[in-house]
Amino acid sequence: MNIVILSSTEEIAKAAADLYTNLLADKPNAVLGLATGSSPVPVYDELIRRYEAEEVSFKDATAFLLDEYVGLPKGHPESYAEFIKRVFVSKVDFSDGAVNGPDGNASNPKKAADEYEEKIVASGGVDLQILGIGTDGHIAFNEPGGSLASTTHTQVLTEQTRVDNARFFDGDINQVPRFCLTQGLATIGRAKSVVLVAQGEQKADAVAALVEGGVSALWPASVLQFHNDATILVDEAAASKLKLKDYYRAAYEGEQALSALED
Ligand code: GLP
Repeated sequence: MNIVILSSTEEIAKAAADLYTNLLADKPNAVLGLATGSSPVPVYDELIRRYEAEEVSFKDATAFLLDEYVGLPKGHPESYAEFIKRVFVSKVDFSDGAVNGPDGNASNPKKAADEYEEKIVASGGVDLQILGIGTDGHIAFNEPGGSLASTTHTQVLTEQTRVDNARFFDGDINQVPRFCLTQGLATIGRAKSVVLVAQGEQKADAVAALVEGGVSALWPASVLQFHNDATILVDEAAASKLKLKDYYRAAYEGEQALSALED
């Protein structure tokens, strides 16, 4: 894991956007993994700025969303399909139909989960997946207690996640759906690279468990310890409970010095 402690949300956004920009420069038809939640929004803002400055294009790329609520009416502003369209996809140059998400309105959600998994595999797999993290350590909607080897599946949301997400539903937990479709931890683990962004003190426990805890179903994000190309971008507050903070800083500086020696 590559742990990078940065001093501001802007720096985190630029560092994550660099990964997308560099990937698309090398591979314009890359398969991108997109996430919702508020944490990645500054990254999307930075990518939109770079698109407008003609520094990056998404026209040949495809993308897969991590997850979706089950049962929100089609077009509901808080469905993840609408959210990602509003904050990112409609503001850059993805081709029509290039951005995929699980079908939260399918009459058979479990079948929709299997079909979504197959579609990701058929695309050749995600090249770069961005992730946020829930306060309880979930990634996508993989709640604590699930299989570390899961593929795309239906999931019952925890009370904690519904409380956390009520802010998008007039502060009313009763409006937050109870079920969702989510890429599984194995699906996410197959992405060639992942970048997780976390800001704020409320993420400090989850970040500590992700980076330094035992790999455990209790903290689903900890499975990323098995990923061989995972970058964790955090601000000081989110990093505040990491025991090896000083080493991560030194390691990051050292890696940059080593990279400078490459051709
Ligand atoms: C939701 C999403 C996750 C996201 C999490 C944290 O549960 N399904 O993908 O990581 O919220 O969201 P935020 O970044 O708003 O704290």
